[in-house]
Amino acid sequence: MRDIFDAITKSAKRIKNAIDIKDIGYSQQENSSGETQLQLDIQCDMIIEEELSRVPSIHTIASEEKEHAMVMNEKGRYFVAYDPLDGSSLIDVNLSVGSIFGIYEGGFDSKHMVAACYVVYGPRVEMVFAENKTKMYLLQAGDFEFVKEIRLSEKGKLNAPGGTQQNWPSYHKEMIDGLFQEGYRLRYSGGMVPDLHQILLKGGGLFSYPGTSDKPNGKLRKLFEVFPFAYIYTKAGGEAIDGQRALMDLGCAHIHDTSPCFFGSKYEIDRVKDVYRDR
Ligand code: F6P
Repeated sequence: MRDIFDAITKSAKRIKNAIDIKDIGYSQQENSSGETQLQLDIQCDMIIEEELSRVPSIHTIASEEKEHAMVMNEKGRYFVAYDPLDGSSLIDVNLSVGSIFGIYEGGFDSKHMVAACYVVYGPRVEMVFAENKTKMYLLQAGDFEFVKEIRLSEKGKLNAPGGTQQNWPSYHKEMIDGLFQEGYRLRYSGGMVPDLHQILLKGGGLFSYPGTSDKPNGKLRKLFEVFPFAYIYTKAGGEAIDGQRALMDLGCAHIHDTSPCFFGSKYEIDRVKDVYRDR
């Protein structure tokens, strides 16, 4: 695992440089989710592929930017799924973006996840790596230094509701409005990494991306976004569900499958369970 951790830190430093200097033009290609790729998305994907390919214990990689998984080494134990530059469309307005990694042993199945990690490229570069504990690191003078362990409170103050409101089910809208009426504050940038990072570091709250009338299975991808954050939130003492079931109990039939998802502290997730029961 140490060599995977090191490969991720090397990728993160190279991606930070690429973000700083790269022209952010669009490519002519679309990814598997139908989004037009930035040249930067493709470059970050190549950086991570290159760094992970140097780790002999990695069997297979899957990237949000690639149609198919790639076998690297038949003798390896680990399967790594990653989103090289989540929220990359926010780069041209200079908001934070991130890379997300899910690390599995023996196959891409949430039950086999053994670690998860994300990197936030904001005013500072921070990395959160969860194995048994959820630990945060800060890039300082060229190295990632350990900062602290992250624990969520039982109840938070922030509400980050994703998706187009017009397409939300009415019960979801009532739940979101109810939290605002209780005093929750809106915090939503449209980047999953900084939005979930903010809730983790500010003690708690709710990030939701429900099934909507136009996207009944939600937008966020299980392997590249949903499972890694579900693992990280759970290890930090929070919870992550699809409305009713724990996200970490869901299967994944295809590498680009999506799921509705709710991440938060206990109080807010209990609320979601009440509202989504029998739906
Ligand atoms: O999956 C890409 C992404 O940009 C996430 O980072 C983010 O949480 C989500 O899409 C935002 O979607 P929407 O604009 O529909 O709320």
